[in-house]
Amino acid sequence: MHLSGKKILLGITGSIAAYKTVDMIRKLRQLGAEVRVIMSTGAHFFVTATTLQAISGNPVFEKLFEFESTADMSHIALARWADLILIAPATAHFMAKLAHGLSDDLLTTLCLATRSPIMIAPAMNVAMWLNVATQENVSCLKNRHMIFIGPDEGVQACGEIGEGRMVEAETVLSEITIFFSRSQRLLNKKFLITAGPTQEAIDPVRFLTNRSSGKMGCAIAKAAALAGAEVTLILGPVSLSVSPSIKRVDVSSAKQMHEAVLQHVAQNDIFISAAAVSDYYVSNTSKHKLKKTEQFMHLTLAQTPDILASVASLKNRPIVVGFAAETENVIENATRKLREKKLDMIIANEVGETKGFDADYHELAIITALDESVERFGYTTKERLARKMIDVLIKNFFVTQAL
Ligand code: C5P
Repeated sequence: MHLSGKKILLGITGSIAAYKTVDMIRKLRQLGAEVRVIMSTGAHFFVTATTLQAISGNPVFEKLFEFESTADMSHIALARWADLILIAPATAHFMAKLAHGLSDDLLTTLCLATRSPIMIAPAMNVAMWLNVATQENVSCLKNRHMIFIGPDEGVQACGEIGEGRMVEAETVLSEITIFFSRSQRLLNKKFLITAGPTQEAIDPVRFLTNRSSGKMGCAIAKAAALAGAEVTLILGPVSLSVSPSIKRVDVSSAKQMHEAVLQHVAQNDIFISAAAVSDYYVSNTSKHKLKKTEQFMHLTLAQTPDILASVASLKNRPIVVGFAAETENVIENATRKLREKKLDMIIANEVGETKGFDADYHELAIITALDESVERFGYTTKERLARKMIDVLIKNFFVTQAL
């Protein structure tokens, strides 16, 4: 059984989708998980504690003090007990409370007191989901490494059509199974990843950079860490937060990124170069802020070191994976780069002003050096793409060790 011995704390909040949890709990238990259920006040309007108690085989609580006086453990002990906290369905209101660290009932208190991962399956009307307030709360929770499943698109209980439906029980189960099975697959493997843009100074206050947000590289780092790898992330200037389980090294210029990579590379099994490294730096930087005097001014640009190629040419090199961000002839150009830079694998992706950089969704193709086969992954979230990429890496490079 995939989930044997796993302890799952299921938090149910007030949405019509709460009915889906009855089947979900049954299936979780069939897979071997132990499930304890906590309801919010609103959840009682959609599903009864009696049903959930019978189906989970454990008492169901809502109120903090009632729990403390009657349960067999304290709320802190329950927060520690859980291997995973799953909030399904999660309302907009609940996510807002979570984002602000409120703890006015048992469920929010547990979420604040836990050190375990939190998975959230939102459910709400499409306008509520798309509301800036909800979206900001979702980003905030994602930045705190909470794992979102869905929501799905489709016909809603209110009759509207759009994003906001809670995903089906099957989807939640498969995400939970993946979550627990992943965490061993890259155990003892060391990943070195670069991500984000670089900044090349012109003078003390100006620089050259690009549109990279670092989202793809950070998603890969997270997916690798979730799969059990020890991850070092060398990160250009971005405004993303990184899980404490990942070793983060902040750099600014291509030169600094190169030095940091060379300093760390020897200890790693794989190097993934997802950073959008500037190809040129300004060789005539000014010590002082440049003044607006002449009609034209000239910056002299010199080539930066190709970090990826320099790692690929090391005598004792790790597995080397590059990225090819192309605006045209994506596969052809990426395959050429794969050969020229002597990589083991390249991730080809099309970029443009509105595509790729700084987006949450993307599509890509993975080309493997061995037979130059192309595996395509369609338009989806960068997080999902990162997980697929880790699957491909495991299949190609780590499967014998994993077996
Ligand atoms: O040749 P191009 O810049 O398109 O190659 C892209 C790949 O090379 C990416 O993986 C990028 O991280 C890496 N790169 C690098 N150092 C550079 C330029 C690109 O590591 N100076």
